Amino acid sequence: MAEVGSYKLIKKSSQCKARLGQVYTTRGVIDTPVFMPVGTQGTVKGVPNEDLQNSGAQIILANSYHLYLRPGTEIIKKAGGIQKFNSWNRPMLTDSGGFQIFSLNEIRKLTEDGAKFQSHIDGSSHFFSPEKSMQIQKDIGADIIMCFDECTPYPATYKYAKNSMELSLRWAKRCREEFYKDDACKTQSLFGIIQGSTYEDLRKISAQEMTEMNFTGYAIGGVSVGEPKEEKEKVIETVEPYLPENKARYLMGVGMPEDLWEGVSRGIDMFDCVIPTRNGRNGQVFTSMGKINIRNAEFKEDFTSLDPQCNCPTCKGYSKAYLNHLVRAQESLYLGLLSLHNIYFMINLMSKIRKSLENDTFLEAKKEFFENYYSRGT
Ligand code: GUN
Ligand code: ZN
Repeated sequence: MAEVGSYKLIKKSSQCKARLGQVYTTRGVIDTPVFMPVGTQGTVKGVPNEDLQNSGAQIILANSYHLYLRPGTEIIKKAGGIQKFNSWNRPMLTDSGGFQIFSLNEIRKLTEDGAKFQSHIDGSSHFFSPEKSMQIQKDIGADIIMCFDECTPYPATYKYAKNSMELSLRWAKRCREEFYKDDACKTQSLFGIIQGSTYEDLRKISAQEMTEMNFTGYAIGGVSVGEPKEEKEKVIETVEPYLPENKARYLMGVGMPEDLWEGVSRGIDMFDCVIPTRNGRNGQVFTSMGKINIRNAEFKEDFTSLDPQCNCPTCKGYSKAYLNHLVRAQESLYLGLLSLHNIYFMINLMSKIRKSLENDTFLEAKKEFFENYYSRGT
């Protein structure tokens, strides 16, 4: 049996750095490049499992920070792990908590040992260390777990970025030691996270030192934190040459449809982003002809579906006019319906990308996608 989290390269594009591959887990094989819908609290907001599975979602992401605070890891452990608890029987990945501590808390204190913070729910005090994050992620029991790191804010001075990247390296070493202490590594795998902000030499050092530690897969963190799109693309290009070909590469918190094409073309295999679900809740919808806001008056009497090319239950069952009405009336049904459509859009997009890689027509597919996507002038 292959090692959990291991990557099999199936085909490289002749046109760019894009790769077709597979990630192995005990709960199934993930075809890559893949988009992972975000289920922060163990649920993709508003979307039942059956719909999520029918969309073709192969793996979803949850956050240790949220699940640790509520319902608490004891309950998840008692249930037999997160996939027993939420009845999602395909692979899952948990983020380590670092990113959420820093994005959700005003009150936090960072030391060599870890991060002290107050719960955004009830203000209670908590402490996460690399070791604690590993224990929590073992209790939650997702297939792929992440190192505890500091997601360097943007912009950061060189000095801040260097110290932060070095701290994340020391924490990664501690995560590794803690992770391999018991049998969890037989069913879970640990990915390292590369930091270094927008500084090329720092990114290079982080990539070299992380790969030296030999993780099962590698993530690029500290992107999509407010930097321009070109900076994000440069970070991937800087890091990619140092990443081993036989391991998965995961770009954290990315992204928009255009970011997925750009990421894949630079050698990324895995993505996650809250955008399809968060935007769905704001009435924003992705379609093959570009982004729309279904709340807009122009859709009040538009009785066609959101996207003629989409096969999702929302498009099959409801018109733009009706969805416009649901959003304006604040009827809760729209939340799940729009999220589900946006998830289908991302999943279908990745499947289009994989098919183009099979046929070695990635660049042609990319061109065709954007010709349609920007056809409304958005
Ligand atoms: N999610 C998005 N970016 C990051 C990051 O840099 N670190 C972690 N742990 N999670 C993220
Ligand atoms: Zn749809």
